[in-house]
Amino acid sequence: MLKGVVLAGGLGSRLYPLTKVTNKHLLPVYDRPMVYYPIECLRLMGVEDVLLVTGGTSAGDFMRLLGDGRELGLRSVTYAYQEGEGGIADALRLAEPFAAGEPIAVVLGDNLYEGNLREIARAFLEQGGGARVVLKEVPDPERFGVPRFEGDRIVAIEEKPADPPSRYAITGVYFYDADVFEIIRGLTPSARGEYEITDVNNAYLARGALEWDVLSGWWTDAGTFDSLLRAQNLVARTGANREDLVEGGRR
Ligand code: G1P
Repeated sequence: MLKGVVLAGGLGSRLYPLTKVTNKHLLPVYDRPMVYYPIECLRLMGVEDVLLVTGGTSAGDFMRLLGDGRELGLRSVTYAYQEGEGGIADALRLAEPFAAGEPIAVVLGDNLYEGNLREIARAFLEQGGGARVVLKEVPDPERFGVPRFEGDRIVAIEEKPADPPSRYAITGVYFYDADVFEIIRGLTPSARGEYEITDVNNAYLARGALEWDVLSGWWTDAGTFDSLLRAQNLVARTGANREDLVEGGRR
């Protein structure tokens, strides 16, 4: 059974002063708090148990908002607290006892998807271990993790490259087997002092154990003023996590 992890920490400094007194993932995206979208994304994959990782001074607000998770259609929500700002892979480290050796789907708390990812989750469970990432063609790949291709093979992923090797972003949904925690233990911090999820994905790539899909529906993060506005407009126009738009397969 796939377990779900939502990473909702960080300072949200790119949205300051919206994030001066609250956590980015509690801000509204159209008619719901941002964090509802990644939770719904996991629920539609068939995930029943979610771990929410957060930090900072608003951590208690997530418990008031999400409670035990049943109102959101989950069997359980549990919470982990990240001390400091060690980055995405550092936050994921806290999920090891929750995962308890099972495969996990990880969603960044500021990522929104138009379609539902259940076929991608199924493909991950059928691939027999390793990792799976989800790509989307974007106009501004330099803001994201970007795959470098040789033919139709990904040979490297570069984090926020000044000169992007392709037009694709690695979006904020990641599927991992239990090896992910051993991989994180082997990482060193990047130049910006963070443990990078891109380094985790490159470690799987080096083992020949990274699979990928390309999305057909829209995808956006919501961590900057422009992308937050874009997320609001996209949700208002089409809704997110649409039951009738099933993502999956390379395109
Ligand atoms: C993070 C990851 C990046 C990924 C992006 C998706 O970047 O580091 O690889 O493409 O999320 O939203 P952030 O925007 O958190 O710096």
